[in-house]
Amino acid sequence: MRESSIVVRPQPMDSATYTASSRLQAAGLRPAITLFEEAARTVPLPKTPQPIAIADYGAATGYNSLLPIGAAIGIIRRRTRPDHAILVAHTDVADNDFTALFTTLTEDHDSYLKADPATFASAVGRSFYQQILPSDSIVLGWSSWAVHWLSRIPMPIPDHVQISYSADDEARQAYARQAAEDWHEFVAFRGRELAPGGRLVVLTVGVEPDGSSGFKAAFDAIVAALRQFVDDGLLSAGEARRMSIPSIGREEKDFRAPFAPSGRFEGLSIEHLELFKAEDRFWAQFQVDGDARAFGANWAAFLRASVFPTLAAALDPGPIEERATQFADRLEAAVAARLAAAPEQMSIPLAKVVLVKRRTST
Ligand SMILES: C[S@@+](CC[C@H](N)C(=O)[O-])C[C@H]1O[C@@H](n2cnc3c(N)ncnc32)[C@H](O)[C@@H]1O
Repeated sequence: MRESSIVVRPQPMDSATYTASSRLQAAGLRPAITLFEEAARTVPLPKTPQPIAIADYGAATGYNSLLPIGAAIGIIRRRTRPDHAILVAHTDVADNDFTALFTTLTEDHDSYLKADPATFASAVGRSFYQQILPSDSIVLGWSSWAVHWLSRIPMPIPDHVQISYSADDEARQAYARQAAEDWHEFVAFRGRELAPGGRLVVLTVGVEPDGSSGFKAAFDAIVAALRQFVDDGLLSAGEARRMSIPSIGREEKDFRAPFAPSGRFEGLSIEHLELFKAEDRFWAQFQVDGDARAFGANWAAFLRASVFPTLAAALDPGPIEERATQFADRLEAAVAARLAAAPEQMSIPLAKVVLVKRRTST
């Protein structure tokens, strides 16, 4: 097979390890949950028997959705009768592990299903870069750590795995174009799905003052390990070249672009937009216990769950299942060792955005 005919697609999280290692993703959730609670206090609610619909865009295993969705339901319940039905739609790509999601919803102590018998859970296995829920139906939307994933890999990044650390102009332009298009589509379709007066809270990756998307030591450790694998003959140069992570941080002007110049787009406007830094929880733990090995291992496990599946998708086709596992094992060990050898605090730039849909069609 010719190298150029291999199409690498972004892959979903590894559900076997995502929940355990997503403690880091929980960083930054708290301030976004506060915004979601405020939204739950103010959005107009439909009358019974119409259910109150909440959407969770990019749910993965559902583990990090329990707190925000549960908090919103708690607040909505103070505004409704206890039997007014609430319908929660957890959405993700088709090959997400929805079994893991429903197991979380059924078994986790913090599941909102345990707390509220008139709340019903459902799932949608379709990309959020299209309309996936009925028009004018969603009262509250939530999306955390998901829209930094581009809909596709626009081209391989020749000199790095993450675009903000690349010096290649063509690649930088291709990723910037894709990021702009994806945010435009994401917002446009949420504009259709939100009910009048409905709100969408988005927590996603922002940028550093130098324009980079943070996580530098982690991405550099991956690049160094991949180069070593090529030198050692574990990986072909072609495979390494195709390995790119299609995630991107956005700055304020990127978030505002679809709304220019009127401030409105598809009935939506930006109610809140803030860039901030999240805590590196693994670094905080290292400050307490001084355990550099654990620091490296925690970061490597997180990267394995979140980005290694996409890197492994660039391996040459063949009986890859075993090779992909071996690749992930080796990469995890190499990245853990590099980060443990020189622990440094990871910069995690995030952005929280609240979009509101106008109440009438004026
Ligand atoms: C890092 S996980 C975040 C999960 C969870 N929301 C959290 O905060 O931990 C990102 C999720 O976004 C999903 N995702 C990425 N692109 C998507 C798309 N185009 N449509 C729907 N989900 C997508 C991934 O499959 C993955 O499950």
